Amino acid sequence: MTPAKNFTEQIAHTLSRITGVVSGGGNKDCDDADSLDIGLTDSEQALLARATGLSIQNAKVSERRRQQELIFAGDFVAFACVADQHLGSPATDVAAVFEDAAWIAETPGVFAFQVGDLIDNFINPHLLRKQFESQFTIPEEWKLAKVFLKLIGQKLAISVAGNHENWLLSLGGIDFFQEILLSDKTLHDAYEVAAVVKLYKDRNSATSFELPICARHSWRAFGSSQWNPTHAIEKATKFGGRFLVGIGAHTHLGGLARDFTSHGEKGIAIRCGTYQRDGTYARSLGYTAQSSMPDDCQIVVLFVLADGGYFAVAGRDTANSILQSFLSSGLVPAKYLIDVLQEG
Ligand SMILES: [Fe+2]
Ligand SMILES: [Fe+2]
Repeated sequence: MTPAKNFTEQIAHTLSRITGVVSGGGNKDCDDADSLDIGLTDSEQALLARATGLSIQNAKVSERRRQQELIFAGDFVAFACVADQHLGSPATDVAAVFEDAAWIAETPGVFAFQVGDLIDNFINPHLLRKQFESQFTIPEEWKLAKVFLKLIGQKLAISVAGNHENWLLSLGGIDFFQEILLSDKTLHDAYEVAAVVKLYKDRNSATSFELPICARHSWRAFGSSQWNPTHAIEKATKFGGRFLVGIGAHTHLGGLARDFTSHGEKGIAIRCGTYQRDGTYARSLGYTAQSSMPDDCQIVVLFVLADGGYFAVAGRDTANSILQSFLSSGLVPAKYLIDVLQEG
């Protein structure tokens, strides 16, 4: 039986039946018997071949996106999910942003998921008035972003841009965050990173515990519910999302984690908290320091254990006590597997 073609191969085969060639080459991807002789001109053939090439290239990128992995070795790994720092805003608790970043940088076994809106970046023409009122220029905000990355850059496992960073992408085609990342191990995308966390107990382990996750700044396409703060993430798993842990931000509320059922297994929906407090935006939404952010929690930490457990807690203090209990039980904090192998 002929093995089924993957999506990329299917595109190549179908279009090569029409053009008789594969983009970039001249090699036939189909038998002569399959070819459709419709008398294409050279320019039609060249145009179709170029379109085929771009289509295949795009499909390959999509396939790679679906097969991304974060590979670690150790008894446990923790991912601090942070977002909505809005550096440049006077309402941002800048000390808390950098305190949390320093904690991530100096705590063994803790890595970071940055889930968008690190800076205000009011470059959007509709919001330029806000930039005129800002105490910081946009270049200064990007410099603050670079300082943030200097702290956590080597431990940044996932980076997803927020709508504030993406204004630069939509206006100028520049994914600036991609340009300033410091680690080649960081998985970055302007909109979504889906990956499998693989945790080997140690460098000699033959098998790993695997946890599919997905991080997006906004999950708005999947709706919202006033009764369920992570409704959109949970609903996404019912519409094809193949993940057990979904991470979101953008709502400018306190951080939280909720268990739910995803594809018959334990799922966790994580909402990152905001570092922007009682500012104009919070007041415009009715979120004051006294009401919607009672616990003032920004950071949510996802714990993954090589023995197969996973759970998430909100707040650095709670995460710290769990880390202490792990360490006193003799559990080894994880490092990237590639770093463990290089240590020899
Ligand atoms: Fe935000
Ligand atoms: Fe946002």
